[in-house]
Amino acid sequence: MKILITGGAGFIGSHLISLFVSKYQQHQIFNLDALTYAGNLENLKDVEGELNYSFILGDIIDQGFINALFKKHQFDAVIHLAAESHVDRSIKDPLAFARTNILGTLNLLNAAREFWNDDLKDKLFYHVSTDEVYGTLGETGLFTETTAYDPNSPYSASKASSDHFVRAYGETYGLPYVISNCSNNYGPNQFPEKLIPLFINNIINNKPLPVYGDGNYTRDWLYVIDHARAIDLVFHKGKTKDTYNIGGFNEWKNIDLVTLLCQQMDEKLARPKGSSEKLITYVKDRPGHDLRYAIDASKIKKELGWEPSVTFEEGLSKTIDWYLENTEWLEHVTSGAYQEYYKKQYL
Ligand code: NAD
Ligand code: DAU
Repeated sequence: MKILITGGAGFIGSHLISLFVSKYQQHQIFNLDALTYAGNLENLKDVEGELNYSFILGDIIDQGFINALFKKHQFDAVIHLAAESHVDRSIKDPLAFARTNILGTLNLLNAAREFWNDDLKDKLFYHVSTDEVYGTLGETGLFTETTAYDPNSPYSASKASSDHFVRAYGETYGLPYVISNCSNNYGPNQFPEKLIPLFINNIINNKPLPVYGDGNYTRDWLYVIDHARAIDLVFHKGKTKDTYNIGGFNEWKNIDLVTLLCQQMDEKLARPKGSSEKLITYVKDRPGHDLRYAIDASKIKKELGWEPSVTFEEGLSKTIDWYLENTEWLEHVTSGAYQEYYKKQYL
């Protein structure tokens, strides 16, 4: 099989590429990535010399380029992760999210439709999406696969739109697809604009920890390698034209999570107890901030036998260790443009 994975130089994509390249030596894995600020080939050092792996630099916004790529390589399947992925950036520049997340997805769908048209058998377009398309929950309840879409941020609206297009191409043109909607991921290789790596980096550097609003927002956290394992299962065993929710069965209020993170950081850095917590600073809230996300992942558990493999405490500890051992990675990604972003967002 020739499998095109988009966004493979990013956070989740890099873990998926590592898994697929090592596990499926009989398959050829192509990683298409534009290497935006979030894409980093350092995330793929373990696979770069492997015979069943190729990197392709390119932008999914370019339909001509995407068509030429499908023609040249005759892909059998696509696993689509490339996206603009940070909610705060979507609030500042919604158009960039519409371009990559909606138009980029449409370009891939068009190419798949055109090049697979004669023989759709054994082809698959796997669209990797988010639980944010469902909007926000109150204090109770869980998102299921049938929860109505109700996105609140430009990011989630663009992902919801792309999900709808994928489904529409399935219904209208018979394109075989599968979609998964996952909760908040954390782990190695995550760009330090997202809560956990941002706060780890700030604690290392004794900088304030900017908690939005009152910190009483809830997210459902999943270790990134468990997400990659879930994608592998859905790709190979999921029903076509179906949707799977993926979550950690692991809800945390932001402030409780940050407190746990601070405690683990103090221990690992051998700093006096309470030093990191002193850095917590409550700042202006994110506009349209969703109160609570929580996934009902019972379908994937029941149908495909998937479950998270690590507890949150273990996963968080492994994640912190990775950032402490990879200070060079952190220094590379936080130089240059990151400083400008940080100033605009927080200072
Ligand atoms: P990320 O921002 O770390 O990586 C995105 C990757 O896409 C980067 O390598 C970037 O260079 C690439 N990319 C961006 N625009 C591109 C374009 N126009 N053409 C080609 N490549 C482009 O994102 P992530 O956190 O790894 O998320 C991956 C996918 O999973 C996204 O679709 C996201 O919506 C979804 N998702 C993320 C989470 C999460 O918690 N991070 C949870 C659920 C779903
Ligand atoms: O739920 C899945 C989604 O999770 C993915 O689709 C997104 O790509 C991913 O970015 C993530 O979205 P969130 O907005 O939930 O993640 P983020 O890490 O930005 O924020 C997590 C929570 O922490 C959220 O309630 C906002 C809060 N926060 C975040 C930052 C960056 C802060 O309080 N301070 C901050 O500086």
